[in-house]
Amino acid sequence: MNEKISTDKKNSIGTKFYPVYHAAPPVGWMNDPNGFCFYNGEYHLFYQHHPYSAEWGPMHWGHMTSKNLFEWKHLPIAIAPDRFYDKDGCFSGSAIEKDGQLYLMYTGHVIPNVFKQKLHLQTQCIARSADGINFEKFSGNPVIGNPGDHRASKYDFRDPKVWKHDGKFYAVVGSKTEEDDVGQIILFESEDLEHWNFKSIAARATENLGYMWECPNFATIDGKEVLIFSPQGIKQEGIVYQNVYQSGYMIGNLNYETGIFTHEDFHLLDYGSDFYAPQITETPDGRTILIGWLDMWYEKMPEQEDDWAGMMTVPRELRLKDGKIFSVPAKELEGLRKEKISYEKLSLTEPTKLEKISGDIGELIVDVDTGKTPAFGIELRVGEKEKTIIEYTEAEKLLILNRKRSGKGPGDTREVELNPGKKLTLRIYLDKSSVEIFINDGEAVMSSRIYPDESSRDIIFVPWGNSFEINSVTFYKF
Ligand code: FRU
Repeated sequence: MNEKISTDKKNSIGTKFYPVYHAAPPVGWMNDPNGFCFYNGEYHLFYQHHPYSAEWGPMHWGHMTSKNLFEWKHLPIAIAPDRFYDKDGCFSGSAIEKDGQLYLMYTGHVIPNVFKQKLHLQTQCIARSADGINFEKFSGNPVIGNPGDHRASKYDFRDPKVWKHDGKFYAVVGSKTEEDDVGQIILFESEDLEHWNFKSIAARATENLGYMWECPNFATIDGKEVLIFSPQGIKQEGIVYQNVYQSGYMIGNLNYETGIFTHEDFHLLDYGSDFYAPQITETPDGRTILIGWLDMWYEKMPEQEDDWAGMMTVPRELRLKDGKIFSVPAKELEGLRKEKISYEKLSLTEPTKLEKISGDIGELIVDVDTGKTPAFGIELRVGEKEKTIIEYTEAEKLLILNRKRSGKGPGDTREVELNPGKKLTLRIYLDKSSVEIFINDGEAVMSSRIYPDESSRDIIFVPWGNSFEINSVTFYKF
């Protein structure tokens, strides 16, 4: 199967919407990041992949590696749906090193013929590699054949994330209750990655927290335990939860004796239109890095006309501050910076282009004096008929990402309400078909795909009041 794909010369790299420094599939479809890890001196990123078309289909695990988290090398497909227990898809999962070998733990997805395509079965499986490239599925798969709790659905039971604690392996798996559709996380434990025992229902949805929890991650960040997951079925509440599915976190405490995770409230990790199924890994120097799918289910994806679909976010470092998670761009991304253009103390009274600040890729950092600026817009990827606008009003402390006139693709707005305070710093990453805005050192992030014409490259600073007071603007060309 790998040979067939690698001898197919056609790939989408370099086509008009294809990112320059974000991870994306060489050709075909991509969704969730999988098996994100540091192994043998480099980062490995696997992903949900359908190599034969730019549509979702029987899932393979695509594979790429990177030393700096922004230059990605494509490797052969790691695992394909070719066994009785994963014949309809190798669904999401994670990776861990044991005795020098790299283990992948994933969900085998099967649609038994007797079910007439209506239902599927999901079990947890492993594959192993001694070189980080060639993987062999375990002869004893599946290693977790059922959810272990009679109330849990065996149909929606997926996305194992494995870690090691005090010499034992643990895995959280996405789940829901069978009878009444309540999202939950199941915890399993193992001595050897091959034999697993049900431990607990670690956490379960209350109120508006959804009918199914996908893609769980468990981490300790700055001394606090955190459960990150992607709940489906949360209803919109005002400007919050506008996407079809959500991704966020709960800070808490996992009792390894009982397996119960006691926790605080759920918060989103990103407020843009396109962010889902994030996965974390730990760097050799102890940072927690997250990569998410920079797309959303059921959205229009104009890159499909060039035979690919889906890309990842930039890697983000997670930190805990004031009881919340802050996401900042991984420091490795500074390696992308080439030319630096900066301005200080600007007082703009009309829409202004700043000399040498324009482009379709790069990093733009704007520090606004919100004490003296009631409202402003920053227009990105401006062309004759299109623009993507970051809008802000100080009275409401509301930041809006407006892609109603962004070009091809979905047109909508997303909003985030910021904490009170005088400061507003925006750090914006532009790539060919994406924008990611890091607000106030990671207090909030907004990530969305945009599909402007290649020629739409202007950046315009627009005062919506007397003046737009800017402490500093820096643009790094990549
Ligand atoms: C999340 C998800 C996972 C599943 C995978 C299938 O986006 O639905 O729960 O494993 O995608 O591609």
